[in-house]
Amino acid sequence: MVTKMSTKNEVLAILEKSRGSFVSGQELADKLNISRSAVWKAIRALDERGLKVRAVRNRGYMLDGGSDVLSEEGIAAFLPERFSDCRIIYMESVDSTNALAKRLAPEDAASGTIIVAGEQTEGRGRSGKSFFSPAGSGLYMSVVLRPENPPARPQMTTVAAALSVCRAIEKQAPLTPGIKWVNDIMLDGKKVCGILTEAVTDLEGGGIDCIIVGIGINCRTPLEGAFPGDIRDYAGALDFPGLLRGKLAADIASNLLDTFENLEDKALTEEYRQRSVMQGKRVGFVYNGRRVEADVQGIDDDCGLVVVFDDGERVTLTGGEVSIGRNIR
Ligand code: BTN
Repeated sequence: MVTKMSTKNEVLAILEKSRGSFVSGQELADKLNISRSAVWKAIRALDERGLKVRAVRNRGYMLDGGSDVLSEEGIAAFLPERFSDCRIIYMESVDSTNALAKRLAPEDAASGTIIVAGEQTEGRGRSGKSFFSPAGSGLYMSVVLRPENPPARPQMTTVAAALSVCRAIEKQAPLTPGIKWVNDIMLDGKKVCGILTEAVTDLEGGGIDCIIVGIGINCRTPLEGAFPGDIRDYAGALDFPGLLRGKLAADIASNLLDTFENLEDKALTEEYRQRSVMQGKRVGFVYNGRRVEADVQGIDDDCGLVVVFDDGERVTLTGGEVSIGRNIR
């Protein structure tokens, strides 16, 4: 199904592609086959949506380099050409991008569908927890993956997602994000991103119909008072000058789509190990129904967490949650 873009969105798509440089009103009018006054009307409508468009006589219009308002066009502009067919759905507010992906998945979400929201009213975290997803300051996205053959090690999808988030952050800013097993992204000891990977099974065939990778990043969330009490001390936010959530979403999605094609690549485990913040840490977790503590020994070849109990017994954790440090909860 091909839907016609509104003039406003066509203007936005051109401005997004030339972010930081001017496009003359005449050029916009010619490209879109509309009048100069229609261009002006579209610019005003974008302004009302909060996009910072500079208008300078004799030069034209320019989307301010730092204007960080999410839109489908603002994500598409940063996707590499080879992913230009990917469907992008942007919603200002949604219950949960993962839930929406699941609702669409049976028929309406091809592999590579990218769903992004400015706010989630029922953001979902792992282990049945909720994910705090306030408006305007975060990036909440889901990517639909439809493997042609079931992945031999499906847990590597989550690893691929964690690596994709780290690489996308590093592409925009001189930061060094780390990964807390299994897939929390940490900056300066605080969690800035959580990942929830869900599989939709094909009831008739019994296989995996699609995998939905949900990624939630706290961007510019004020650290004082904004986060709910239970996560306040642990949650952080990605906040640096020039942060563009549309670019971040596009970089994460394209990285993930590429990496998903090569889940058996041994280099993934090596990169995961290097980015891991777990080495030598004391961790707490539930084991055989009991809350226990152990020391982390490393990450195995399948990205399992190898831990050693005080009595010397060694086990490899393949899923679940661990907490680190003094306040092991
Ligand atoms: C966690 O840390 O527990 C995982 C959080 C995952 C949150 C993301 S936000 C986008 C997607 N939609 C959801 O409802 N959850 C994931």
